[in-house]
Order: sequence, then structure tokens, then C-alpha cells
Amino acid sequence: MTSAQQLLTHIEADSIPSAHRMRRLRRSDGLRRMVRETRLAPTDFIYPVFVTTGRGVREPIHSMPGQSRLSVDQLAQEAAELRSLDIPAILLFGIPDVKDAEGSGAWIGDGIIQQATRALKDAQPELIVVTDVCLCEYTDHGHCGVLADDGSVLNDASVELLARTALSQAEAGADVIAPSDMMDGRIGVIRQALDHGGFDDRTLLAYSAKFASAFYGPFRDAADSAPQFGDRRAYQMDPPNGREAMRAIARDLAEGADMVMVKPALAYLDLVREARQRFDAPLAAYNVSGEYAMLKAAAGNDWIDEERVVLETLTGIRRAGADMILTYHAKEAARWLARHAG
Ligand code: PBG
Repeated sequence: MTSAQQLLTHIEADSIPSAHRMRRLRRSDGLRRMVRETRLAPTDFIYPVFVTTGRGVREPIHSMPGQSRLSVDQLAQEAAELRSLDIPAILLFGIPDVKDAEGSGAWIGDGIIQQATRALKDAQPELIVVTDVCLCEYTDHGHCGVLADDGSVLNDASVELLARTALSQAEAGADVIAPSDMMDGRIGVIRQALDHGGFDDRTLLAYSAKFASAFYGPFRDAADSAPQFGDRRAYQMDPPNGREAMRAIARDLAEGADMVMVKPALAYLDLVREARQRFDAPLAAYNVSGEYAMLKAAAGNDWIDEERVVLETLTGIRRAGADMILTYHAKEAARWLARHAG
């Protein structure tokens, strides 16, 4: 007799209580689907796109395989694809030709984001246009606001320019304005500027709990927005601080945010869960560029099953409590989900 058989003779077959037999729920695909707690759908996704100047440009982003910088004339095609995949929203980042100390490219009437927004609203009025409000892609120093003489980022002067940016994006037709700069008080000031400007119907999605993360590396390559000196730790949040994240979300809601965000997603899923439990507002999580790049790199080496790992990751973000996921995987995930449904 093997030792396993010896052991078995000492265990009564019915010593495992029937009520503890959970595998009954996992017997078939039908049963697994019936008891599934979290569902992932293309309508959960917001797809981020980098918009650049020029015509006919589709320039691949080296550190984000599958993503490209697109010129404005390419956006109608992109919008049609998103609509056909049932992805409701696009998030725009601009890469201007010229940068200056104040980031004026962010708020000028014919800025890259303003042009892109108009083109998208023309082509697909139903597609929700979300615009990122920040100065880092537009400043020659690469910080998210304007600088004092000592190189520190001025809060209130930056907020004024951010409000100007938000207003010009609303004028161009943006549906959702998403400030990602991390200056204090920007949500309240932007809300006021929009309301006074006749845009009280536009929605504010606050990057409320945005951490000073190394996972933004590929984005900064893509947007050419890495700070030229120093880092963002004096305005983005310190990664170890979860309670502070809850305070930031509460503050932004009090200032008029309609929706709030935790960013990045994966190393901060505890905060997605906590925010879900504490607040009733729609909650977004940003599955950022570095998170995307990690999976793409592993998949490109055949180290992981890309489809399963991506869908498992996105489902995990939903299970933690996010209503919406900003993700570069949106289009491929929507295709995989459609195939499973069909
Ligand atoms: C702009 C901004 C950044 C991201 C979104 N908005 C970069 C940063 O804060 O440095 C990062 C998104 C990503 O990594 O996918 N401030």
C-alpha cells in the first residue's frame, strides 16, 4: 500500500462535509457563468490616445507595442473603430510642436487637443471625448504647472492656467474634463470656470488619487513629457499613503468632481476597493502605460498567454471596485470579449 492509500483508509469518505463542497459551482461553463460575480464589458473601457501634429501620421510608440501617435486626420477612423467595438469613450493627450515655459499649447484655441476634440465630435458625436488637463506635455521644462524662480511648481498660478485649458477644451466640445496635474484646488476652480463659461453641463473626472509612480515611464516617452529636472514628487502623491488618497478623493468630490480616479491601478487596488466602499461617485482606475508595457513585453516573449492575462487583469480592476477602466488594452480586450460572447 502506498502511503496515500494508507492515509485514505483512515479518512471516512463522507468526512468532507457536503456543505463544504464548493466545486459543485464550478462544474460546467454554464454554472460558472451563472454564478460569476464580476463582468467585464467594452462599455467599461476608456481608450487613451496620443495626438500629434502633421497629416497621415501613425507613429508607433516603441515602449507601448500596439499604440501609436496619431495625427488629427486619423481620429475619425479611430472613433469609428471604438464605436464599432462598443467602447464609449476616448481620452486625449496632446503632443504639441512647440513647448514653452507656461505650456500655452494646452489652452490656445487651435491647440492640438482642441483640434482633435472638434474632429472627433464632428466624426462621431456619440463618442464621449475625455480631455486630460495638464501642462506637462506643453511645458518646455516638462512639469505639470508653471515654475517659481527656484524651480518649484507654483500651485495657484498653475491652477489658473489649468482652468483656462479646461475652458478651451469645453469650448472645443469635450464631454468630460479630466485634470491630472495634482495642484490643490484645481477641481473647484475648474468647476467654477466651466459653470461661468456656460459649460455647467460638462463632467469633471478628477485624477484624485494620482501617485508619483514609476509606472508612467512609457507614457512620458510617448508624450515626450518627462520633467527636464527633478521629479513630480512635490505634487503627485507619495505611493505609501492610502489614507491621504481617501482625503484627496473626499476633497475633490466636495469641490465638484462628478467622478474620481485612482492611478495607477495594479499596485493600488487596495485603494480602488477602499474608495468603492467609502464613496458612491463613479470610480475610475487608470491601468497605466507601464502596466500595459509589462504585459506586452512578457506576451511578446511568449512568457504569458496575453489574452487570458489581459482579461484577468482588467477583471481584477473591476472586481476591486472600479466602474471604469482607462486602458490601452481597450480595443484588443473588446475584441476578445466580443468573441467570447459570440
Ligand atoms: C499627465 C499624465 C500622465 C499620465 C496621465 N496624465 C503622466 C505623468 O503624470 O507623468 C500617465 C498615464 C500613463 O502612464 O499611462 N500629467
